[in-house]
Parts: sequence; structure tokens; C-alpha cells
Amino acid sequence: MCGIVGYIGYRNALPVLMDGLKRLEYRGYDSAGVAYINGNGIEIKKTKGRIEDLSRILPLPAPDAKIGVGHTRWATHGAPSDRNAHPHACGGVVVVHNGIIENYRELRSRLASEGHQFASDTDTEVIPRLISSYMKGGLPLEDSIKKAVSDLRGSYALGIIGQDCPGNLYAVRNGSPLIIGVGQDEYFFASDIPAFLQFTKKFIFLEDGQMCVMSGRQARLEQLGPAVPSKTKLPDAGTEKTEPAGSPRVVEVDWTPEMAEKEGYDYFMLKEIYEQPRTVRETMREWIENPAAMLDSLGLTSKTVLGLRRLHIAACGTSYHAALVAKYIIEALAHLPVDVEIASEFRHREQLIEKNNLFISITQSGETADTLAAQREASKKGAFTLTICNVVGSTASREADSVLYTRAGPEIGVASTKAFTAQLAALCLISIVLGMKRGRLIAAEAETLTSQLKKMPSLIEKALACDKQTMDIASKIKGSRSMLYLGRGINYPIALEGALKLKEISYIHAEGYPAGEMKHGPIALIDSGMPVVVVAPVNNLFEKTLSNIEEVKARGGRVIVITDEPPGLRAMADEVIEVPSAHPALSPFLNVIPLQLLAFWSGVLNGNDVDKPRNLAKSVTVE
Ligand code: F6R
Repeated sequence: MCGIVGYIGYRNALPVLMDGLKRLEYRGYDSAGVAYINGNGIEIKKTKGRIEDLSRILPLPAPDAKIGVGHTRWATHGAPSDRNAHPHACGGVVVVHNGIIENYRELRSRLASEGHQFASDTDTEVIPRLISSYMKGGLPLEDSIKKAVSDLRGSYALGIIGQDCPGNLYAVRNGSPLIIGVGQDEYFFASDIPAFLQFTKKFIFLEDGQMCVMSGRQARLEQLGPAVPSKTKLPDAGTEKTEPAGSPRVVEVDWTPEMAEKEGYDYFMLKEIYEQPRTVRETMREWIENPAAMLDSLGLTSKTVLGLRRLHIAACGTSYHAALVAKYIIEALAHLPVDVEIASEFRHREQLIEKNNLFISITQSGETADTLAAQREASKKGAFTLTICNVVGSTASREADSVLYTRAGPEIGVASTKAFTAQLAALCLISIVLGMKRGRLIAAEAETLTSQLKKMPSLIEKALACDKQTMDIASKIKGSRSMLYLGRGINYPIALEGALKLKEISYIHAEGYPAGEMKHGPIALIDSGMPVVVVAPVNNLFEKTLSNIEEVKARGGRVIVITDEPPGLRAMADEVIEVPSAHPALSPFLNVIPLQLLAFWSGVLNGNDVDKPRNLAKSVTVE
């Protein structure tokens, strides 16, 4: 979390940095700061609050600086405050940092014994102090950075400038995302691609343990510590540029700056909800006409697929809910047992993964610390690792044996929406292919499913018609303290996802439950003040779900139902939201749409910043 940016080149650095920070604000937004070098030396401006607050304290007109760094913070060590805001500095060395320095206490006492007096409560401040302490000992800046980095334990992406070397910008990566943007006579660094898409589409994806030294005209990579062999595959994401031998590998990405803009919507979240017909279509585009070709491209041989006894999936949050949906589909279509686990649990227990098992990680950002750790664990145990990931060049995509990219484009809203349905699309394709390859899904059934899947973008379009109705319902549930979301079978994970979306955006407490489990506890909560959302598509569990609705009504509960069979339900439920009918395995795509919109409008009506809900950040790079 936290976003860092840096610039060196011919432009005025400050507006470039501020623009980059604005685009990374989704990563953290409790304080912000910039540092730049101009004729007066290094200047630092920082404040508690958002980028907007930072812009208020910047000098006007922007000073003539051609080099600088910036930071937007999600607090880990030390409360959000002016003093804890980055950049941190010591003796003409300035550092911005994303990540956590695990041994900062030890380093702090070492530096304190040398006479350093700390100006913040952060772990980061040890870094500029270490560098300047090595410089005092006679080392030049670059060597001091290397020495300081060798003292650090933990995860970090660092941006560094120094008074002594105003012509150099330094970026170091170890465990936290960091990319270098390559322009004509200018370089950028950032935690994520959208920061500088308006200036360049060419990027160098740093590996762990690498430092990039940028001057205006060139970038040089240095390996600090042991090289981490990368299985880097950035193939279908962009075109690799041929560079002279020894030069860093430059990849051109196919995202456009507009993809990271609001394009007329008031909120990224709403824009991203509406993008889903397109992003689901894009994700399937390459494979939908010939799903069987997918396995080869993923490096999965027929022998591996036929030999599979179990499949493991790990993910966090919304991506975990996509994994739960996949369990239902894969087990039904491919008769393959699927273990789904929250990544932070998976990684910390003994895993019964056998060699040649297939492990899938699902991650929008490709940088979620727990998901990466789970993937590494599985890899250590000899599993073949496949990641379903949205960000080209992300750590998950580089470390996995194989990548299936979702084509959702940059997801900026902190609450995940379009990434979820893109993940469902990718997982449906994999399920069909596994089913076919393992001889469990006959060609005709596979054909029916793929043709239904092809219709999904236009069905999602139709589902979006409930927008206005969800806004009305949101106004009715405003003021509720708690809500229950119920679903059965493949729509139970959709109930979980609806509840997660509502709580993170509206701050109304919500719980998702399997509808059949309600009578074992949560039914005690039901009264007229407790809205209950029920996902009730017509399928083999429909009648049972109707009974659950009756049980809620009998206790005075208010029922909001999502269904493709509204006439039958109007007499029972207080609110009926209609979605189009779909193949039972594909109904989650449509049922989640009203739940995303209901959460969105509840957040807006409660006056919340839905794109940046409190306490949250996108891309959770801490454990
Ligand atoms: C919820 C949300 C989070 C993420 C989770 C995993 O709206 O956005 O729960 O889904 O942090 O993130 P990724 O998919 O980037 O690994």
C-alpha cells in the first residue's frame, strides 16, 4: 500500500509528480508529500491528508525542478500526521518508501546510539539516516544506498534523491512493486503503471534486489544482493522491445491513459461497474472460440491435467470469493476436488500439496502479500503455479509458472468490481477446458456453456438496468445498522461478496451466509430493522431459498431479493430486483451486479468517499 513516484528529465518535476500521485491515491490516502531539487537545493513539502491537501501547501508557480520524488501514504508505523508523512530526510538524502522495514527497531537504536534524533514514528526514517551515516563515513551516495539496503530486512520499494547527486534518481525494489517508466530523455518510477501512462507506455519491471539509477538520458540496473531468478513472462501483455545487450528489458503495455480516467463518471467504482460487459468480453476474447487452446498456452500438458487429483486455490477478499465460485464450477464440470483457502491462512499451515498438483492464485493487483506468500509456498512444495491476475508485470505474474491475465484494465476504485467478473470469466473458461480434457464434459455441453458465456457481456448490460432501483433501495436501507446476505450453492459466494462490498463502501455491517445455515444462528438477529438480501435465481435450490425467505418474513424481516423470476416473488419480498436468466453455473455474473450497485449507492448516500473508503487501500502489500 502507499504509492511512490519519482521523475527525472526535462519537464517541471512537480506537476508530473503530483499528477502521478493523484493516480496512485487509491493505494493510500492518509498523508502525502513531495521532495524536489531546484536552485535552492532539496525542498520537502508534506502534510497529513490527501493529495488535494498537499497541493494547497505547494509553492506557486511550481519551482523549476527537474528531479523529484513523491509519496501517498497508508499508515503502518505511526499515526497519519504531518511528521509521519513521507518523504523522510537526513543530511541531504531524501527517501520515499512503500513496504515495511521489519528490523527498524534494531536499526533505530543503532542510529540513536550514533546520535541520531528521530523526527517521526515511522520505520522508514531509518533509511535516510543509514544512508547519510554511511556518507558521513566517506562513501559516495550510491555506495551508501547499497550499504544501507544491505542493512534492511523486510519489503520495500524505495525512491531516493540526494543533494550531492542532483542528476541521479535512485529506485530500489525488494518485495514491494516498483516499475520504471521509460520516456525520451526522461525517466519515471512508480508503484503502479497508471501513474505515468499519460507520458509513456514503456516500462521496466524491476526484480527484487535490483536498483535502478536514472539520469535524464539513461537508466542502469544494479543487482544488490543475490539475484532472484525471474520466470518473467510478459508475453501477451505487451510487446517486448529489443534493446542493446545489457540494457534493461523494456516492455510496452497496452493500457491507455483513458483507462485510468473517470471518463465522465463521478466515481471510478461506478465507471468500473459499468465497464463489466466490456471487461468480461475482453478477458474471454482470446479463448472463447477455442478454449482448448488455453491449456497449451498456460503450459499445462494433457498428462498434467489428466494426472490431477486435487486443485488448490488461494486468494484474498473479493478474489477469494471468485475462487469459491470456481470451486462449484470446477467440481461440477471436471469432477476435480478443489480446495479454496484464504491466502493468509493457507500460507501459515502445513499444506498437503503433492508434487505436480495445480495451484491457482487469484489476484487483481498481483501484489497482495499473503497471496504471493501462498503462491511461493505452493511452488516450494513442487506444485505447478498458475496465477489469474490483472496486472502485467506484477510480482504474482512474474513468479508463477504460468499466467492467465484478466483483461479488466486498471481497477482504481478501492472496492473490486470489474476484476471480480473478469476473474469469473477466466475461471469459467478454465473449468470448461479442465472438464473437456478430463473427459467429464461432453462436447455438446461444453458448446452450450461456451455459447452462454459468450452472451454474458450482453446479459450483464441488461442486469445493469437495475441501477436506479438499487439507488432507491439504498435510500430505504440508509440508517440500517446491519444487514444479512443469503445465497445457496454457487450463489453463496455471491452473498459473501455482496456483504463485503456493502461493509467496505457504506460502513454498514453486513454478513454473508449460506441461506440454509440461517436457522442455525443468524435468524436470532432478524427483526424489522434488519434488511435481508436474498440471492434467489431459479435453479434446483430455488424452492429451498423461497422457504428461507418465508422464514425471514415470518419474523418481521425486510427482504430484498435478487432473482430472474420476479412475478413469483413480488408477493413475498419487500423489494424484487430482476436480473436476466442464465445457465445456473453462470448466474453469479449477473447476481453480483445489483449487489455492487446497492453497495455503491449506499456508500454515496451515506456521504462516503466510495473510491477511497476509510482505512482501506488497494493492493495490500503488507501481511
Ligand atoms: C474488496 C477488495 C479486496 C481485494 C483483496 C485482494 O473489494 O478489493 O478484498 O479483493 O485485497 O486483492 P487482489 O485481488 O489484488 O489480490
